[in-house]
Amino acid sequence: MSGPRVWVPYAEVVPELSERLAVDVYDGEGPVPESIEEVECYVLPYTFDLSPLHLMSRMPQLRVVQSLTAGYEHILPFLPAGVTLCNAGRLHDASTAELAVALMLAARRGIPDFVRGQDAGEWRHRRWPSLADSTVLIVGYGGIGAAIERRLAGFDVEVLRVARRPRAGVAPLAELPELLPRADIVVLSVPLTDETRGLVDAGFLARMRDGALLVNVARGAVVDTDALLVELHKGRLFAALDVTDPEPPPPGHPLWSAPGLLLTPHVGGNSTAFFPRARRLIVEQLRRFAAGESLHHVVVA
Ligand SMILES: NC(=O)c1ccc[n+]([C@@H]2O[C@H](COP(=O)([O-])OP(=O)(O)OC[C@H]3O[C@@H](n4cnc5c(N)ncnc54)[C@H](OP(=O)(O)O)[C@@H]3O)[C@@H](O)[C@H]2O)c1
Repeated sequence: MSGPRVWVPYAEVVPELSERLAVDVYDGEGPVPESIEEVECYVLPYTFDLSPLHLMSRMPQLRVVQSLTAGYEHILPFLPAGVTLCNAGRLHDASTAELAVALMLAARRGIPDFVRGQDAGEWRHRRWPSLADSTVLIVGYGGIGAAIERRLAGFDVEVLRVARRPRAGVAPLAELPELLPRADIVVLSVPLTDETRGLVDAGFLARMRDGALLVNVARGAVVDTDALLVELHKGRLFAALDVTDPEPPPPGHPLWSAPGLLLTPHVGGNSTAFFPRARRLIVEQLRRFAAGESLHHVVVA
């Protein structure tokens, strides 16, 4: 094969790629291919490990980086000037929205306590809040936020929506102070940016109802961890976090033992829904790249 050199993280996609591309497989763990100085398009391995990102500085021909994550704030410091970055687009919507709803259901219905009871051989019968009749505030009504609402459609909930740009049925961030006290569940699905870093601070949490649940499937640093720990220890709020700051919490960190907290290890996007969607995305983007067509999901031009 000849033509532009491309690195992809999965050997399985190679037979589906254009013969006009010269393809090597780099999965982020195996040996770094010798063609590194020829790479023009780099499909990053699906990992938050930074070592695959460091390799970009050794790719003088690099023109396009394709991320398999939706968030890309961790990539920006490594992206060489003039290189186009494409993110994962809608790849993670289904899996992450599904986890958000699973966290809501589990935390509201007391599943963590029941599992601990099962481990201890205890029948912990008691009444927990239901999802039915709750008001759910989605902060970050983009691809994942809208997918969460679609999945909530059978649960008898009222949905409130916040995004950066207000539109019909979607309020701007400035309206959060009025919306927060109305919500039983606040779910975070914003990107981590200068504006959203620390968005959920002591003031935000203070506006939440007594007994309300905070669900974070966005990025850990959107939440001020210390402020959340204060509320959890008061027993005033509940939380379910797929992402944390720090991530992962080091051994002995207060997040491991906070009351009313359900933790999952950043698995929103990482389910069996990932690979079929990743494969379709890679094949279509590289078809476009090989044909010189405009790429999808460009986040840095
Ligand atoms: N837990 C996981 O495994 C996992 C998986 C995938 C993604 N994520 C995280 O989820 C984030 C969202 O993903 P997505 O694909 O849904 O992104 P998206 O489609 O770009 O949607 C982001 C939403 O956030 C809103 N937003 C951006 N800045 C805001 C601000 N300052 N205030 C209020 N709203 C703001 C946007 O508003 P507009 O609609 O007005 O632009 C948009 O509605 C990603 O960036 C990533 O960090 C986590």
